[in-house]
Formats: sequence, structure tokens, C-alpha cells
Amino acid sequence: MRTDELAWAAIDAETERQERQLELIASENHASGEVIAAMGTALTNKYAEGYPGRRYYGGCEHVDTVEDLARDRVRELFGAERANVQPHSGTQANMAALMALCEPGDKVLAMSLDHGGHLSHGHPKNFSGVFYDFHHYGVSESEEVIDMDEVRDRALELRPSVILAGASAYSRIIDFEAFSSIAKEVDAKLMVDMAHIAGLVAGKAHPSPIPFADVTTFTTHKTLRGPRGGAVLAEVEVIKKVNSALFPGGQGGPLMHVIAAKAIAFREALAPEFEEYAASVVKNADALAVRLMERGLRIVSGGTDNHVMLVDVGAKGLSGREAEDALHAVEITCNKNLIPYDKRPPMEASGVRLGTAAITTRGLSADDCVTLADCIADLLDVPSDDSVADRVRGVIGELASSHPIYPDSSLSGA
Ligand SMILES: Cc1ncc(COP(=O)(O)O)c(C=O)c1O
Repeated sequence: MRTDELAWAAIDAETERQERQLELIASENHASGEVIAAMGTALTNKYAEGYPGRRYYGGCEHVDTVEDLARDRVRELFGAERANVQPHSGTQANMAALMALCEPGDKVLAMSLDHGGHLSHGHPKNFSGVFYDFHHYGVSESEEVIDMDEVRDRALELRPSVILAGASAYSRIIDFEAFSSIAKEVDAKLMVDMAHIAGLVAGKAHPSPIPFADVTTFTTHKTLRGPRGGAVLAEVEVIKKVNSALFPGGQGGPLMHVIAAKAIAFREALAPEFEEYAASVVKNADALAVRLMERGLRIVSGGTDNHVMLVDVGAKGLSGREAEDALHAVEITCNKNLIPYDKRPPMEASGVRLGTAAITTRGLSADDCVTLADCIADLLDVPSDDSVADRVRGVIGELASSHPIYPDSSLSGA
């Protein structure tokens, strides 16, 4: 029953916006109706501090079943020894991993935010930068890929307690084995944050970090297509530390309705079709990047191996902010992003980050991605030409309406 007209009007408008626009924000996806339904259940009422079988509250028998399902499924999905599915977010998963692997003030070597890293990898205003002594590696100026020789040099010079691999805006395969051998050489722990690529790893479209990392963290809502949240994977001995770092260390009661949705999403990712999905995400990203390059746009590092790409719009005389706004006006959603060695400030930036996880979920093909690339290139060539914008808006509208996200569901917002 709906009585709150104002709140529901906004919720319905957002649902309709997602149907109408093409989502190219690389960290977003469209969760299934079943995943979303689980979040709207009575499980949200339940306090369940602790872990299955060891809770601080009564009445946890059913939420224990749910959390066990989620943990068992995610372990099977990634071939991991143990899992913690309670992190409310990727940042909280990273907090738990760092608390488990080192002490406040210890040195951590991670990818620089300016070159594709994440706020929770040592930004001075984030908990990570406040409580740990972060140092950073980047990508080379010539190839724009992670230079493992530089990572090794930095590690030998710093002797960090933890080396962190993983990124928010990096379009190439990350060599986890090479990171692991550097970590071993300098006696550091290896933490992998696979937030962006977790779905690709699950779908066997990207090499897995699990055999190499001491702790692997990820978000469940990006390529993995689950509810908004985080998770941590580790071996038995390390997960004990992660568990107490999460609760009571960093969080209170777990979000059991979200953990139920994670369980459902992990089951979806275990189905054979998910491998097809992950392969299509990568194929679509490649088609989009190749066509954008054919149309004269520069892609950082010359292409993509995963779901994401950074388009250097500075070369077209635009800032990332201007490109983001122009694309938004024709119903394409994306975000401005620094490119490596960017001269513009972050709120302007010289790039836009594009990803194919969400459009692949709604069924766009590689051919559709070529059409989409042509739309983007046409628009960015003449961003203030209204007739081009009108034509592009029409093509995007057709692509969106012929690929509904929730065709048979009440989520249509009607
Ligand atoms: C690599 C990486 N780690 C962690 C996170 C943080 O996730 P959350 O926004 O859930 O805290 C992100 C989110 O974009 C990310 O890209």
C-alpha cells in the first residue's frame, strides 16, 4: 500500500529515468526484480549483530539461513575458502580488510586516485588516508598502463605492510600474480579490491585474484549485478580478523534484507548464463571503444580489456564536465573522470568514464554499441548543435525503449 505520495513519486520517477536513459556509469548496473524484491522484505526489521549461530539477538534462525546461503554461494562463485557478506558498502569492506591486515599508521601502497584508484585507497579525507600511511603507484605516461617495474621499485623503497591492487577507472587486465610476487618479495600482504570487475571474475571474463590475494574485497552492485553492498573473501585464519574488524570493529547490525538480496544475486551469478553476460559486457565495451576510436576519440591506453574505458574528450576541446552534461541532455548517463596526468581539476576533468555493465544487462548488443558510439561521437563533435542532439536523442530513445529493463515487473513505475 502506498500512502506517501511524495516519496513514491520520486521513486517512480527514478525508475522511469533508468528505463528512459542509457546507463554508461561504469559502477552501476540493473539488479534483477528478484534481487530488488528481497530488499523490500521484513528482513529489514531484524537486528542480527554477530554471525550465524553466534548472534547477540534472539529470533535469528531465518536470517542465519539467509546469511549462510549468501556465504556458501559466494565462496562457491569465487572458489574462496571463507567469506564475509556483511559490509554495507565497498568502502566498509576495505576498512575491514585494512584493519585485518595491518595496524593504524602502517604503510600501504595502492593505485593513485588520479590514475584510476579509489577514495578508499588512501584519499586524505577518507578513513584510509586518515588512519594509514598511503603511498601510490600510477600508470606510465607513455602506455597508460600499470608499470609493474614501477610498482616493484616503489615497494622495495617503501617496504609497505600492504600492497593494494584494484581500481575504479582502469581498462586493462590487472596482473594479480605479478602483484603477489612483489608482495612476497617485500614481505607485504596483498589486498585486492575487485569492486569493478567482480562480475567479470565471477563470469570468467577476467583472471581471478583469489589464488594470489591475502584478502579480496568487492562491491556487489557493479558488474556483479547484485544489491548495493560489499563483501570480503579470505582464508580461514584471515577471515577471523576480518569478521571482528567488520563487527564490532566497523559496523553494527548487518542489513539482513540486503544480505538476502546478495544471496539471490550470487545464485544468479552461478548460473551458466552469467558467463555469457560477462563475456558480452567485455565484447560490448570493446565494440564501443573501437568505434569511438574510429570516430577520432582517444581512449586512454588505446582500448579496453574489461567493462570500462576512459574517453579523453580534452582532445575534442571539451572538459569531462561539458561532455557529461552534453551526453546527459540526450539521455546518456556517464561521469566525468580524470585521465592520467590530467591538467584539469577533478570537477572539470578531461575525460568521461564509460562502462557497459548496465546496457548489457538490458540486452544491448555489440552492433548497438557501434550505434551508441556513433551517437556519442556525433554529439561530441558538435555539442551545441540542437539538430544533432535531437537526432541522437531519438536514436537513444529507441535503443532504450526496445530494451526495457523490467519488462514484466511492477518496477516499471506505472
Ligand atoms: C575500486 C572500488 N573500491 C571500492 C568502492 C567503494 O564502494 P562503495 O561506494 O560501495 O563504498 C568503489 C566504488 O566505486 C570502487 O570502485
